[in-house]
Amino acid sequence: MKIPILDFLRDRPAEATDRYTLLQSKDQLFTEQFKNYCSRFEYAVDVRGCKVVAISSSIAGEGKTVSTVNLAANLASTGRKKVLLIDLDLRKSDLAKGLQFRSSPGMVELLEGSAGLDEVLRYVITQGLHVIPSGKRVANPWRLLAGEKFRTLIQELREQYDVILLDTAPIIPVSDTMVLRDLVDGIVLVHRLGFTPHNLFRQALEDIGEKKLLGVLLNGVEPESERYYQRYYGKYYIKQGTQ
Ligand SMILES: Nc1ncnc2c1ncn2[C@@H]1O[C@H](COP(=O)(O)OP(=O)(O)OP(=O)(O)O)[C@@H](O)[C@H]1O
Ligand SMILES: [Mg+2]
Repeated sequence: MKIPILDFLRDRPAEATDRYTLLQSKDQLFTEQFKNYCSRFEYAVDVRGCKVVAISSSIAGEGKTVSTVNLAANLASTGRKKVLLIDLDLRKSDLAKGLQFRSSPGMVELLEGSAGLDEVLRYVITQGLHVIPSGKRVANPWRLLAGEKFRTLIQELREQYDVILLDTAPIIPVSDTMVLRDLVDGIVLVHRLGFTPHNLFRQALEDIGEKKLLGVLLNGVEPESERYYQRYYGKYYIKQGTQ
């Protein structure tokens, strides 16, 4: 299995204090790089014919939410695609907090049947982005994600949007993301360099499998090291995982 690198993200400067402001870092370069990621992502989904894409990582805190919100906003603001962003990290609700939305009602209420789609949809007006937050906390969220109702909902949403981005839980500690694998067209694995042990990254890649892996987003890369990582991962193969 060869590892396709989707893009590189550099570190936001350490002095940045806007931890929960997911859309507008004061650092121009940090914000600008998402435009580039957006173009590469759009190209990848167009080539592969992907519509529903999950974004995950091996462990928590690798940059899924910050990269996905910025990707979704950039993609929606081009006006070329109708974009829906769903917070499926049902144990955290980070996304709503970062966008300053209420997290409930959201996905959980929709799947439990206590709220309708029109009640859970939120809008980032400036970007033309539609968002569904995670909703209230429940025990064993993977049960909802593995259920028939979720499957049907995604089928319905496929009719209404061009791209559906799912911000999901990390792969190694919980099974929530792997229950989605067959339902999505592709998975982006966010990997934070110098943070995640390599064996866990490798295990997550094997769990995803070559067919579903849309690409890896390397986070925390200094611009001068990009070539090195491109070469390193470009030549890097791992044992064929489960497909
Ligand atoms: N390139 C980066 N530079 C600096 N800080 C970053 C970068 N990427 C992510 N962070 C910060 O790291 C923290 C974790 O990022 P984020 O919440 O996006 O990760 P996550 O993978 O969604 O985490 P979780 O699994 O806990 O939901 C946040 O404080 C975020 O601002
Ligand atoms: Mg997150």
